[in-house]
Amino acid sequence: MINGSTKVIGVIGDPVEHTASPTMHNAAIRDLGIDYVYVAFRVRSDELSKAIEGMRALGMVGMNVTVPHKKSVMQYLDVISPEAQAIGAVNTIVNNNGKLIGHNTDAYGFDKSIDLERRLAKLPSAVVLLGAGGAARSILYALLQRPEVERIHIINRTVKKSEALANEMDKEGRVYLGSLSEGEWDSVELLINSTSVGLFPDMASSPLRDDSIIRPDMLVVDIIYKPLKTQLMMKAEEYGATTINGLGMLVWQGARAFELWTGIQPSVEIMTSAILRNLEQ
Ligand code: ATR
Repeated sequence: MINGSTKVIGVIGDPVEHTASPTMHNAAIRDLGIDYVYVAFRVRSDELSKAIEGMRALGMVGMNVTVPHKKSVMQYLDVISPEAQAIGAVNTIVNNNGKLIGHNTDAYGFDKSIDLERRLAKLPSAVVLLGAGGAARSILYALLQRPEVERIHIINRTVKKSEALANEMDKEGRVYLGSLSEGEWDSVELLINSTSVGLFPDMASSPLRDDSIIRPDMLVVDIIYKPLKTQLMMKAEEYGATTINGLGMLVWQGARAFELWTGIQPSVEIMTSAILRNLEQ
């Protein structure tokens, strides 16, 4: 029951009405029987600073931040975690007695999702990352944290964006840009789609021009979770590859944020089934 002492967590974005976060977090809150509620707020870019001041004034315990505010919100916060600083984006704010701390749990979500679903002790040495947008930033950060990953090839429609991303984040010359030769594809064992190509309702599209580079020993990760199986994943399975969708990344970034706000580890099973029910509707 919501009452006079219920603590409030929110998500700000624009648009925000289709976000799965309230469903997932409120399911975890109900499961634990703790006195919190999670709500979504549509905040226009020109109202962002007021929304953050409002968060302070209202004593909200935390927020998630989504598109288009993940970068611009940083200027209004008191402290930015080293990880969020390196990624250049905040997706989680913790209100620590009036001090607002910006975190980024997306890289953690990505890491956790591939580690758990594949039970990989190590990532392969050559990786291809499709896309160079907001999601690609945190994935690239996560990949660069793994010393075993020697080559990360970024392929993006707008080459300038992938160049900028590589210049900003690649300090050790491990990032390569543009298409790969046949020989280079042969050593790629992990292919990640971080573009929005294939996302509902554009379900017939695939971000990969030539599927024939997919091999049975490849892991193909699509960070899309709507649909749960994208065109890219279907093709990958036809070629015998293992696939992972974006559900794990979504749930694990959320679970980490939940822990930052409440100090309690939520049930990822409960959060996952809440999202699955939500997707079915
Ligand atoms: P997100 O925060 O979800 O990553 P984004 O920052 O808008 O969203 O990034 C979307 C990514 O999908 C970008 O890499 C984008 O390519 P561009 O940099 O060229 O815009 C990619 N993308 C979106 N629609 C695409 C399309 N039709 N074909 C190829 N790439 C596309």
